Parts: sequence; structure tokens; C-alpha cells
Amino acid sequence: MEGITIIKKLIERLKEAQDDDFKILKIIEISMRHYEWVPLEEIVRKAKMPEKDVLYRLKRLNKFEFVVRSTYGYAVSMGGYDALAINAFVKKGILKAVGNKLGVGKEGDVYSVLLEDGREAVLKFHKHGRTCFTRGKRYREYIADKHHISWLYVSRLSAEREFEILNELFPIVKVPEPIHWNRHAIIMGKVVGEELKRIDLSKFMSRDEIKELFWKIIDEVKKAYELGYIHGDLSEFNILFDGEDFVIIDWPQAVSKFHPEAEFYLKRDIENVIRYFKKYKIDRDDENIDTDKIFNYITGKS
Ligand SMILES: Nc1ncnc2c1ncn2[C@@H]1O[C@H](COP(=O)(O)OP(=O)(O)O)[C@@H](O)[C@H]1O
Ligand SMILES: [Mg+2]
Repeated sequence: MEGITIIKKLIERLKEAQDDDFKILKIIEISMRHYEWVPLEEIVRKAKMPEKDVLYRLKRLNKFEFVVRSTYGYAVSMGGYDALAINAFVKKGILKAVGNKLGVGKEGDVYSVLLEDGREAVLKFHKHGRTCFTRGKRYREYIADKHHISWLYVSRLSAEREFEILNELFPIVKVPEPIHWNRHAIIMGKVVGEELKRIDLSKFMSRDEIKELFWKIIDEVKKAYELGYIHGDLSEFNILFDGEDFVIIDWPQAVSKFHPEAEFYLKRDIENVIRYFKKYKIDRDDENIDTDKIFNYITGKS
């Protein structure tokens, strides 16, 4: 189904959902720390409500597709988790409306939103479980000893991580302004511009101007490094450009500059940026546009 249809449907259901529906949904969410499928008795026990009332709520949640059922019990669905996060933002008086999906042909879920303070912003849901992380190993090790740690937990961890990193970097580095975090969702400042991938710079910029843009991007990578972070997935897909200025997005997988493989990640980021800019021939008669030299420049090891 189209993303926009999914979110519209979700918002409609959210409006229909009542406090007691959310009460039961939250009980299932919390119990999923211990159960893959939360048994009905457990929900009844925690809800302190008659079983028939709990069953009534579960039926509604099932109709909204906020929960999934098995013979063992109930689990929060991806949509249910989205609903919990949106509901929290609304209840806290932060979020006013959810608009269009951003990012063409993207797997992730990023929406344009309107905040109660009148600001336009962006809501990004982290959805992991299927997707593998660059930094996946660390997570998997961490997760291995809790036997059924779910996508729910991993997605939340990923959102928390991105929010933390944005907080560390903003406003020193050109990254979106972090505004709020809840569960697997973050709200951040809306960036005007498009992914470099989708822009032909040569149509409106000279080779010198393009080269200047390249070095400005490298300087942001350097600033992030000096604050302790390496993006880890830097490419023309994660740089938004409006024709004059740019912003580097998509930070959940960032690694510390003290990570044992920091050099590998940083060099890969640099290479990705060089590869994109090479098509504009900015490296012609310029020996400084070289991965090792730029690595030394960024790390101060020259
Ligand atoms: N702060 C933002 N402002 C405007 N658009 C954004 C913002 N964050 C993300 N987007 C859009 O959503 C897309 C996906 O976001 P991103 O953070 O790169 O997640 P992922 O690549 O993991 O799906 C981006 O390519 C961009 O088009
Ligand atoms: Mg991205």
C-alpha cells in the first residue's frame, strides 16, 4: 500500500481510538519486554479491568490493526507502535497534524508534519528488524542475551541514537534541528532541498562552485569528527541541497571516532563523497581530492 494511504488510515484510526484502547495497547507494549506474545491473562492482570472489557478493547485494537494476534497472545503491530508515538506527541501538545510522506521511493518513513507552535517539521519513524545496520553487530551482541528482543526495541534504540547524535552535532554541524523523540520516532527541523543524488549541479553551478561545495561538505565531516562522530552512511542520498546551502541527514548508524573501525568508516564516507563529485570533474588537476589526504585533513593527522 502507498505510504500516504497508510498514514491517512492510521490517523483516522487514531482519532477513533479511546484512552482505554491506548491503555491496553501500552500494557501490551510494556509486556513485550518479557513476552513475544503477551497472554490475555497478563493483560487482564495489569489492566485491572474485567476480562470482558479487556477483550472488547482488544477487539477494537485488532480492528484498527494496532495489534496482531496469535494462539499465544497479542503483540503490538508496526502501525500500533506508530500510533503510540503519534499519540504521545499529540498528548504532549507537540504535534498538530501529519502531512505528506517525504523522500521518493524510500523504505523509511519520513513525513512532513505541523507542530502546535506553528512550525513545519519532519517526523521520522525508525523501522528496523528487516534492515541490517552498518553497526548491526554491536546491536546484535547486545540483543543476543535478551532472547526475544524485537524490532520494537531495536527501532526505538535507533531513534534514540539518532536523536542523541543530532543533539550533539546541532547547530555546530549542518544537521537537522532535533526537536522531540518518542519511541521509534523523532521530530526534527524540516530541511528545504533535495538529495544531491537527484540534482544535476552542472546545470546551475560552475566547476569552481561545485568544488567549493565539495570542500564545504568535507568541512562539515571534519566538524562532526571533531565532535566525536563519523556519519557511517554518507553519500549523495543523505545530503540535502537547496541550490545554496546543504544539510547532512540520516545519522542513526554514526560511529564514534574511537570505534576500532573508525578509519574504515570515515574513509568510506570520504570515498562516497568523492565518487559523487568526480562526475563533475572537480578532481581534474587537483591532487588534494584524494581519500587519504582528506582523511588526514579531517583527523588532523597530516
Ligand atoms: N529533516 C528533513 N527535512 C526534509 N526532508 C527529510 C529530512 N529528513 C529526511 N528527509 C527526507 O526523507 C528521506 C529519508 O530520510 P533519511 O533520514 O535519509 O532516512 P532513510 O534513508 O534511512 O530512509 C531523505 O532522503 C529525505 O528526502
Ligand atoms: Mg537516507
